[in-house]
Amino acid sequence: MKQIPRHIAIIMDGNGRWARERGQPRAEGHRRGAETIENIVSACRDRNVRHLTLYAFSEENWRRPSEEVLALMQLLRHFLSSKRAELIEKKTAFRAIGDLERLPADVRQELWETCEATKGGDRMTLIVALSYGGRQEICRAVNSLAGRGVKEVTPEIIETALDTSGIPDPDLLIRTSGEYRLSNFLLWQLAYAELYFTETHWPDFTAEELDRAIESFSRRQRRFGLTDDQLK
Ligand code: FPP
Repeated sequence: MKQIPRHIAIIMDGNGRWARERGQPRAEGHRRGAETIENIVSACRDRNVRHLTLYAFSEENWRRPSEEVLALMQLLRHFLSSKRAELIEKKTAFRAIGDLERLPADVRQELWETCEATKGGDRMTLIVALSYGGRQEICRAVNSLAGRGVKEVTPEIIETALDTSGIPDPDLLIRTSGEYRLSNFLLWQLAYAELYFTETHWPDFTAEELDRAIESFSRRQRRFGLTDDQLK
């Protein structure tokens, strides 16, 4: 029996390299990357993955050339407006995490409308990390707790103030394009996740490769600090 991760997180890397290898502009890599998102969201839904978190734009990505930032924002706006009806129909709740205040007002509006319209979705949650940094998220959480007068924190208290509050931690992290780093993604939440790395660039990532990652996850024994005997 294959064990299906309840929550998969993905660092979608390699859009730029995919485009360069084909002599195409980086924006084309991102456009193809957005198509992969559509395929993988529906593949996860079909496999009963309950939560999928995608790293779409990091805090550091603001430093990219302004044309590229603009192209990514346009893609995101287009994705949200064109996919909203399908998300509703497929009972997929949408959530955004990160420092959303930094996003352009029109993108924030689309995000808000998509979150509101899909709220009732109980089949899957699609979480998109935008203007996101793991350390920054932890700082925002701790500052908000301090602002509420909390004097001493525990992991459980910090969790209530994270952007991901209410969502179980990822069981499996996938990173594409041959890099072996976390790049400030979900630092708190990935504490016990299994990690899967592939050389495939994100635009070439397929449902078959998702299955290979899930199979690899299934074969691993998660011990959470216990011994083999304690797990028997
Ligand atoms: C990494 O490739 C990818 C990104 C920084 C952006 C991911 C965005 C999308 C897939 C599309 C837009 C998002 C949505 C939600 C519609 P890279 O540019 O870092 O690749 P490189 O390392 O090869 O240069």
